[in-house]
Amino acid sequence: MVTNNGAEPILEVKNLKTHFFTDKGVVQAVKGVSFSLANGETLGIVGESGCGKSVTASSIMQLIKLPPGKIVDGEIIFRRQKRRAETIDIVQLDPKGVEMRSIRGGEISMIFQEPMTSLNPLHTVGRQIAEVVELHQQLSRKEAMKVAIDMLDRVRIADPQDRVNQYPHQLSGGMRQRVMIALALSCNPSILIADEPTTALDVTIQAQIISLMEQLQDDFGSSIIIITHNLGVVSQMADYVAVMYFGRIVEYGTVTDIFREPQHPYTVGLLQSIPVLGRRKEILVPIEGIVPNATAEIPGCAFADRCPHVMAKCRSHLPPVTTVEGQHQVACWLHEDAAAVRHAD
Ligand SMILES: Nc1ncnc2c1ncn2[C@@H]1O[C@H](COP(=O)(O)OP(=O)(O)O)[C@@H](O)[C@H]1O
Ligand code: SF4
Ligand SMILES: [Mg+2]
Repeated sequence: MVTNNGAEPILEVKNLKTHFFTDKGVVQAVKGVSFSLANGETLGIVGESGCGKSVTASSIMQLIKLPPGKIVDGEIIFRRQKRRAETIDIVQLDPKGVEMRSIRGGEISMIFQEPMTSLNPLHTVGRQIAEVVELHQQLSRKEAMKVAIDMLDRVRIADPQDRVNQYPHQLSGGMRQRVMIALALSCNPSILIADEPTTALDVTIQAQIISLMEQLQDDFGSSIIIITHNLGVVSQMADYVAVMYFGRIVEYGTVTDIFREPQHPYTVGLLQSIPVLGRRKEILVPIEGIVPNATAEIPGCAFADRCPHVMAKCRSHLPPVTTVEGQHQVACWLHEDAAAVRHAD
């Protein structure tokens, strides 16, 4: 599914396929994902656990470990704002090479779900931020330390001069997440990918982190990809939403399209099954059934076993992507006729 909202895209993911070659078979974690992200825009990626959100993000960062993982097809075209808008296909870069290292962290950075896995327990938080700044901005250690203190201040960590000298284990979960954000933003990245940035946090701190990311986006002008199963976070932050299921984007649209006029039965199910922040209390209905086994090869629609509208052809043929209206797209056989009517116009 390719989108075009008029603005020049900073990132275009085209037909991305990332597989894992395991003892139990091939896991086609990402099965041909396409989307684009415009400058300064926020894209939310939603979907149940295991549908390929993190693998998509890690593919963009070239963080897929080979073996068992490999990007087997597709392009990730990145327009490098910091390099006179030169375009480069990330897929073609050596993951460990100079070019990719300069993009990773310097131009595209990522906030992970669990800060302890990406913060080094043996180094002070100040040193970790300073190292990134030194590497990407060619500053002296002393200058980089000043930037680190400033970044901690910007993510509203009190007494940043003292906190820079502390180790990750001396900080609370919320504070560590703020350090991660400071680390990710310290080089003013063109794109920030936040993978479930608030999942491990309590609701109050979640809200603070979200408003912090929004404010930092205003200050730094970064584009954001926010990955979460929290639809409340998406409705608050995102301009566009991609709904993923079993390695594919099954619906894409503006926040209004997705929340007001969801078209795919899976999106409808998600909206009914997950509480949405700010919405009045409602009865939540879990989606029945489970996601297919990761190694299963399904010729038709992967949602068929759980779908209340399933038809015979759903099981045998992959549903085509059709445009509902504007940029709103859906991959479901229920919308085939709508597309045919539009083509006949
Ligand atoms: N290193 C790996 N080896 C094998 N399978 C993997 C690996 N990483 C992810 N997967 C599989 O890829 C699929 C997508 O995972 P992931 O992108 O992490 O899902 P999520 O949407 O929850 O972020 C899952 O079936 C997962 O088990
Ligand atoms: S293609 Fe068929 S099974 Fe899949 S979501 Fe649409 S109606 Fe349901
Ligand atoms: Mg994930």
